Amino acid sequence: MGTPGRNEAGAYENARGRLCQDGKDQPELAPVAAVFEGIMDKQKSIDLLNRAVADELQAVHQYMYFHFHLSDQGFGPLASLFKRIAIQEMGHVEKLAERVLFLRGEVDMATAGPVERITDPEKMLEKAMQMEDMSAREYNQAALACSENADSASKAIFEALVVDEEGHYDQFDKQRENIRRFGPSYLALQSFTEEASGAGEPD
Ligand SMILES: [Fe+2]
Ligand SMILES: [Fe+2]
Repeated sequence: MGTPGRNEAGAYENARGRLCQDGKDQPELAPVAAVFEGIMDKQKSIDLLNRAVADELQAVHQYMYFHFHLSDQGFGPLASLFKRIAIQEMGHVEKLAERVLFLRGEVDMATAGPVERITDPEKMLEKAMQMEDMSAREYNQAALACSENADSASKAIFEALVVDEEGHYDQFDKQRENIRRFGPSYLALQSFTEEASGAGEPD
């Protein structure tokens, strides 16, 4: 009596309906191209990465603009937050650029849009939250596109960026909530507390 799935001669049917026997008639492997139908289109990944570089550069410019103005208005802690996040966005540019070069592309270094001349702190935070939200959405889509393009390494970069951008959104949202809860004097009091504790000027 044969084991389940085998006939009396001990042969079994492989996935493609062919009769095989242990050690004799091993199943044939399909050609690689037939198994992995989606071969990576490098240019597609390079375009997605360069699009993200442009968004990141816009964020660096916009956040540094906010940093200068907040610092000038004496709002040290919020000025520092924008500078810290601008530096993290620069780190994102670097990660994306490294991947573009690995794929033998060129880094465009174009910004996605001009700097908006916003000088009101609450409006700055709203603009920053809008940018972070947009980036997170775009990078989620880019991760899916990279997956379809059989480019797991670029996909992993975009997924990591989504986590960072959501974290930035959260930090800006907390500051905006505090301004709404405690009123416009919140930023001045925050700066006063920082000065009193000796933390000093914004970085
Ligand atoms: Fe970023
Ligand atoms: Fe961000």
